[in-house]
Formats: sequence, structure tokens, C-alpha cells
Amino acid sequence: MPFTQRYTLTQYLIEERRRYPDASGDFNALVLDVALACKAIARAVAFGELGGVLGNHETELGGSVNVQGETQKKLDVLSNAYFTRLNEWGGHLAGMASEEMEQPYQIPAPQPRGKYLLVFDPLDGSSNIDVNVSVGSIFSILRAPQDAIDSGRDVQEADFLQAGSTQVAAGYALYGPTTMLVLSVGNGVAGFTLDPNLGEFMLTHRNIQVPHDTQEFAINASNSRFWEAPVKRYVDECLAGKTGVRGKDFNMRWIASMVAEAHRILMRGGVFLYPRDSKDASKPGRLRLLYEANPIGFIMEQAGGRASTGERHMLQVPPSALHQRIGLVFGSKNEVERIERYHAEPPVSVELDNPLFAKRSLFRD
Ligand code: AHG
Ligand code: MN
Ligand code: MN
Repeated sequence: MPFTQRYTLTQYLIEERRRYPDASGDFNALVLDVALACKAIARAVAFGELGGVLGNHETELGGSVNVQGETQKKLDVLSNAYFTRLNEWGGHLAGMASEEMEQPYQIPAPQPRGKYLLVFDPLDGSSNIDVNVSVGSIFSILRAPQDAIDSGRDVQEADFLQAGSTQVAAGYALYGPTTMLVLSVGNGVAGFTLDPNLGEFMLTHRNIQVPHDTQEFAINASNSRFWEAPVKRYVDECLAGKTGVRGKDFNMRWIASMVAEAHRILMRGGVFLYPRDSKDASKPGRLRLLYEANPIGFIMEQAGGRASTGERHMLQVPPSALHQRIGLVFGSKNEVERIERYHAEPPVSVELDNPLFAKRSLFRD
């Protein structure tokens, strides 16, 4: 292959750091440690059955279940271990939190503690792992509270309960046909493709922008009977296509790996919905605020898209718990804003669309 003059992730980070002459370099070193964890996970994923990593995680007591009540895959547990092991020694972190760990993870002695918090979903879409469909890792970097930085005390849940707008950086790795790292350090979004020969992430996608309009949506339609009226209205209007109020046909996609849907939307536009619904009153939404909705929301907004609960701007939501679930809508700005409008407007009576209840029908006088 010819030598191409491409930037590596390290070069990109060094150039970004020049905007902050006083920066210590801790942040860049942290991002490189996260990238190393992603490369290690990419290797494990790529070996699949040959590596003995598929299937459920088994302990002496049988299968394991995480704090979400979800069965853990071997690769969920392995990916979580890569994240903690490769990020605990650098001295950049005050603590970590993960989908796979009920409590915050303390940086073990004698490792030094630093000024950032790392929050992650080590393997998103892991139900797809056994069927060889793309999965990924999602991460968010926050600043630790000043007293934790000063004292080096243990971190606690409250330290992580920061609105998404305070994120210092966020990103994801996608383990697809190629492994990619997509990153925002608060100055747009850049995409890097893993060169498997060099083991380096190379800058391949500069300044990614989400188109403001789209004709593609993603939602798990099997939940439609549990949706709230504004979501039902939005999807019905998309399905009505050219002959409906939208006046154009829509396409639909559902991978069931949110990280893969986010990547598709970053590349070509679209809207993703996993809205709050009435399926299970104990779960206000499927996805988690701190390590799914906020980092993906940050990336979307940095790329000119939008992320919302449906009712409000996602990045303004004050978190109330480490593993809090939330309704999530993100992607092309004009579609997300339309969905927010539908939530704000008084409900449109669905009966009006039903011929049985329409004017002059049997059921009206
Ligand atoms: P995780 O594997 O980290 O638990 O997340 C899976 C999520 C998300 O990636 C995806 O969009 C959604 O779950 C799929 O949900 P359904 O099974 O309802 O389609
Ligand atoms: Mn996930
Ligand atoms: Mn996960």
C-alpha cells in the first residue's frame, strides 16, 4: 500500500492541545489509553469464536447479571476489564464508572489519582456479538469535583451526576468491517480508522457534519403499542410517506447496536429514537443517560445534530443516578426538533385518523 501522509490520533491530539498552551498533557494521555482499550477490544471481537469469547459469561454460580438486570456476555466482562486495567495506572483519573459495575470504580493504590472521570459502556449492542453484527464502546470524560482532585479521596456516585453539557470529551469505537474511533474534544467531531498493520488510529474523517434533514429513521417498532402519542404521531407520519403530511417517503433501519446507528447517522443523517414508553414502569427509557445518551448526544451536537429526551435538550438533563435510564432521540437537527415540537404541542387526537371514529362514522352523531 502506498505511504499516505495521514495524521495519527496522537498527532491530532497534539494539534488540538496547542489551543490550550497550559494543558499538562494528561488529557491526551487519557484519550490514548482509552484508544488502547478500544484496540484491545477490537482484537478480541475480531477473533470471535476462535478466541473463545462468544456467549454468556459464566461464573461458578452460573451466568452473571449486571446492575441493569441484563445477562452479561463474556465480551461485556472482558471489555470492562480492558477499560479498567488500561486506564487505572496513568494517573489521569480520579475514578471510573461503567454499565457493567454497580458502584464507581476506585483507582487502586499505589496508582496516582488524577483530575478526570471516565464513564463508559464497554460494549454496546452486545446482544449482537454472537451473530457477528457490529458492536462498539462508548465513553465520556468529565472533570472530577475539585475537592476530589485536591484530596485524592474515593469517588462517589454524586461526583458523576453532571449534566452532559459539562463533558470535556466523548467518543465511541465501532467494531465493524473496519474499527473506527469517533471523538470530540469539544471542537467538532473527527473520525479515525484503525490501520490494522500499524495498530494506529488514522484520521480519515475530518469535521464530521450530520445533515440537518433526513428521510431515514430508526426505532424498535415492536414497542409501538407502548409509545407515547407524540412518538406514535411522528412514526405514523413517516410511514405515511409521500401521500401523508410529510410529503416524502422514509426508509427505516434498526441494527440494535445504538453505537452503530449513531455512526450511520453521523455519516449520512437520520434520526434514532428509543423513547420513554409504557412497557415497564420501572424503566423510563431503555438507554442510559451517563454512558449512552450523553456521550452520543455530545458527539451529535458537535457534528451539528441534536439530542433530546423528546421533551428537552439531553445535555441539560441533571442526572439523578449513575445507571439512570432515559428516553433518547438524536440525529438530524430538523427531525429531532420536529419530535420535540410534537411533545410540546397539545396531543393530536389519534381517533381522528381512524375511520371508525371519523366525522360521519357509526360512532359519532
Ligand atoms: P447494551 O448492549 O450496552 O446493553 O445496549 C444495547 C442497547 C442499544 O445498543 C440498542 O439500541 C438497544 O439496546 C437495543 O434494544 P432492543 O433489544 O430493544 O432492540
Ligand atoms: Mn449500551
Ligand atoms: Mn453494554
